[in-house]
Amino acid sequence: MNDILNPSLPESTPAKVPLKPLGKVLAVTSGKGGVGKTFVSANLAAALAKRGQKVLVLDADLGLANLDVVLNLYPKITLHDVFTGKAKLEEAIVRAPGGFSVLLAGSGMVEYSRLTPNVRDDFLRIISGLLPHYDIVLLDTGAGISDVVLFAVSLASEVLVVATPEPTSLTDAYATIKVLVGEQKRRLIRMVINQTARMGDGRAITTQLQQVLDRFVVAKPGENVRLVHMGDIPADPSVRMAVMKRQLLMQSLPGCPAALAISQLAAKLQDTLITKRS
Ligand SMILES: Nc1ncnc2c1ncn2[C@@H]1O[C@H](COP(=O)(O)OP(=O)(O)O)[C@@H](O)[C@H]1O
Ligand SMILES: [Mg+2]
Repeated sequence: MNDILNPSLPESTPAKVPLKPLGKVLAVTSGKGGVGKTFVSANLAAALAKRGQKVLVLDADLGLANLDVVLNLYPKITLHDVFTGKAKLEEAIVRAPGGFSVLLAGSGMVEYSRLTPNVRDDFLRIISGLLPHYDIVLLDTGAGISDVVLFAVSLASEVLVVATPEPTSLTDAYATIKVLVGEQKRRLIRMVINQTARMGDGRAITTQLQQVLDRFVVAKPGENVRLVHMGDIPADPSVRMAVMKRQLLMQSLPGCPAALAISQLAAKLQDTLITKRS
């Protein structure tokens, strides 16, 4: 078996070792912050769980972790305790209200927002240990192209970029995709456009981004990066209401437009990612 898939990694894996993306891990990332990564990760996990999938969400936004806030969870043991050797991985896994598992970062993780060889080793070890137990692991990553965000994304076999129709979000999404193509040799990136005003807006935005990438970001001559539009999520006041109540939208208002869009996204992801692999 590949070293990276072996939970008992040697004490210090050199930081230079090229990373091989692990199976069944989907990084939810974005160029700009505040676009809805945590909202999408948590509710997508609930929608996939409802479809019978075994899902774990890992709070990989080390600097600004807030999955716990969204899910209204106060775990005694967090990823921080696993990193420092105070707890076992299994002890830090918490059951979320939506029928999925979560691994929360905890406030102590701020000190890990710099990428050191130890942080890399710990992350690899943890994700490798989780993989055999879940149909899919979602990484709720930070925004942008810092080392630690790119590292978290590099652990994933698939990337879902969340963007909103705002011009700033789109230019930041473009910059992120460009780096993922250049540094991680990604050839396929999945897109979800959140907070759209009208149905169909998201697909048009993805098409527009694809055109810019085709012109300016050529992976290899004749081999361009392909964006796959996975869906639109409409701007919906119910989202904010659910966040304010610290409830999952899929549980509190499952029939609202944004929740229905997340259900569709889950169905599409299950068809394209999970079914294909198992
Ligand atoms: N589809 C939507 N409709 C309305 N508001 C939304 C939607 N998606 C996200 N939001 C708002 O944006 C806020 C930030 O989302 P969050 O998931 O925390 O962003 P990120 O994780 O990307 O920083 C949410 O708390 C919510 O109020
Ligand atoms: Mg977030």
